[in-house]
Amino acid sequence: MCSLVVFTAPLMKLAFGSEQLTTIAANLKPVKEFLATPEQERPTERVKLSGSIYSFKNVSFGYDATKEVLHDVSFQTQPGTMTAIVGPSGSGKSTIAKLMAGFWDATAGLVCYGGKDIKEIPFDQMMEEISYVAQDNFLFDKSLRHNIRIGNPKASDLEVQAAARAANCHDFISQLP
Ligand SMILES: Nc1ncnc2c1ncn2[C@@H]1O[C@H](COP(=O)(O)OP(=O)(O)OP(=O)(O)O)[C@@H](O)[C@H]1O
Ligand SMILES: [Mg+2]
Repeated sequence: MCSLVVFTAPLMKLAFGSEQLTTIAANLKPVKEFLATPEQERPTERVKLSGSIYSFKNVSFGYDATKEVLHDVSFQTQPGTMTAIVGPSGSGKSTIAKLMAGFWDATAGLVCYGGKDIKEIPFDQMMEEISYVAQDNFLFDKSLRHNIRIGNPKASDLEVQAAARAANCHDFISQLP
């Protein structure tokens, strides 16, 4: 009886452990695939941009080779105006925005900004040019001040407030306890 108990506990641990290992292995697959994705290449030398027009020239794109999401898309945006991209859910609106931000590279065609193929613009320079507000937002479970300061950890309190004003959320934040 006593020896049975001695064996049962480790066997149960093993059984639960192998279940956890299966779960971990399943979750590791996308992580492995992500880590195996080739890094995007961009130059480090800043380039001279002429203006801030975006243009898509015959752009096609798929997140993987099995499914094309954008097919031969061409358009231009004009500075100082608002451009709305309208279409049913899943038609590729956010994908267009992600290509504009340079989060992914087009499979075919050209995405240009300021007269340059965005692949010729260093990441840092591109991030100084644009602001990307994602559809699915995420706030860290810390103060709003901390969340706003993520973009520039050295920002003073006044600069954080100025950013909040520019984003039209200062009044709302001021009313919070
Ligand atoms: N990271 C991703 N990996 C693989 N497929 C994706 C990814 N993101 C989006 N997709 C697929 O690409 C297609 C276009 O998605 P997208 O998010 O651009 O659509 P949307 O027009 O913004 O939709 P919604 O109106 O629902 O926001 C969809 O079929 C979607 O499932
Ligand atoms: Mg979307």
